Amino acid sequence: MTVESDQASIGQAADTALAEVVGGAEETASGTAGEAVSKAVSETARRMRTLVDERLARFLDEHAAPVADPEVTTAYRLLRGFILGGGKRVRPLLCYWGWRGAGGADCDQIVSAGAALELCHAGLLIHDDIMDSSDLRRGHPTMHRSLAGLHPGLAARSFGQAAAILLGTLTLAWSDELLSGSGVEPSRLKRARALFDRLRTEVIAGQYLDILAQVRDLPTVEQALTVVRYKTAKYTVERPLQIGGALAGADPSLLDVYSRFGVPLGEAFQLRDDVLGMFGDPAQTGKPVLDDLREGKHTILIAHALQHASPAEAAHLRRWHGNPELTEEQAAGVRQIVIGTGALAHVELMIDGRAREAYDVLHSASIGPEARAGLAMLADGLIHRTR
Ligand code: IPE
Ligand code: IPE
Ligand code: MG
Ligand code: MG
Repeated sequence: MTVESDQASIGQAADTALAEVVGGAEETASGTAGEAVSKAVSETARRMRTLVDERLARFLDEHAAPVADPEVTTAYRLLRGFILGGGKRVRPLLCYWGWRGAGGADCDQIVSAGAALELCHAGLLIHDDIMDSSDLRRGHPTMHRSLAGLHPGLAARSFGQAAAILLGTLTLAWSDELLSGSGVEPSRLKRARALFDRLRTEVIAGQYLDILAQVRDLPTVEQALTVVRYKTAKYTVERPLQIGGALAGADPSLLDVYSRFGVPLGEAFQLRDDVLGMFGDPAQTGKPVLDDLREGKHTILIAHALQHASPAEAAHLRRWHGNPELTEEQAAGVRQIVIGTGALAHVELMIDGRAREAYDVLHSASIGPEARAGLAMLADGLIHRTR
């Protein structure tokens, strides 16, 4: 999967949400004006993604391995391939529109801040894939798998994991360095850094709750939602938007609007991820479709299905959910139960409800028409994505 194809699904999603949120606004009441805004916004988003990728490449060029060992150089090359080789760049874009919504103009500083968020995300993904024993990410072997492949033999697996822990930690440290050195005016940077601190604390708490869920009894829908809020919604949507806003000097009321827009949208994003994890096309998601089930991921789909399952269905779910031996045949049974109990329809309704909530907040937000359109298009892409 290429960066371009990965990003296209988001860039092209300028339909219903844009029409409802932006088309209702005075500035873009006519279809033609709406189309013009939509085109301009798509172009801006494309340009930002390119700039962020260029900034990341430059940062990595400036951070070559400090030792001359060729095997360290190989590890750095793999890391560079992972960081630059895919991903939708959702967080940098949200940070950018958060900045624009607060009156910021295009400049190198916001590109660096967006790139810093992408580095943070990359580090988290590397660690997540070790924790989840995932083999594929963005259609390619995960970092710990690639690193293990460098050293055949009995110790390969533990070497791969240890090496990926180090490279993930390095990437997280780099994200801090890049944000700190972004060149934004110090008092604004200080506010943004406080939000970045919170983002990291929250996502780690969310990830902790996620691994706890695997060893606890199956969670209720409410407990599963708390995990979603912390492990995804805040770090993917709410905080990146607020960080962009704070960097541009947004007042607290705008940061509050970003939170009220960002949390439901972020939850919808993760709920869509869960649906894709069970029903998606691996050629598009870049992740195997049995992963979530074998891993025993405690999604709201599963929590809801269990609450509404017959005793026989519940027994099937308890036997196979989280069972590494699960094959396509048992997975088909699980999917059937998730559909039959109404869990899939329920989660789709939850996604719709959250999307509506986010669009309502955006509709009345005091931000310029371009930022509103940019956020509406991005939101639409996040909710309706297939990858
Ligand atoms: C994946 O995030 C992890 C989640 C929080 C669901 P993305 O879907 O943004 O991953 P990439 O960067 O596009 O691969
Ligand atoms: C999640 O990545 C990564 C973080 C939340 C940091 P995945 O796309 O693998 O989603 P999970 O692991 O199933 O939550
Ligand atoms: Mg994972
Ligand atoms: Mg995980």
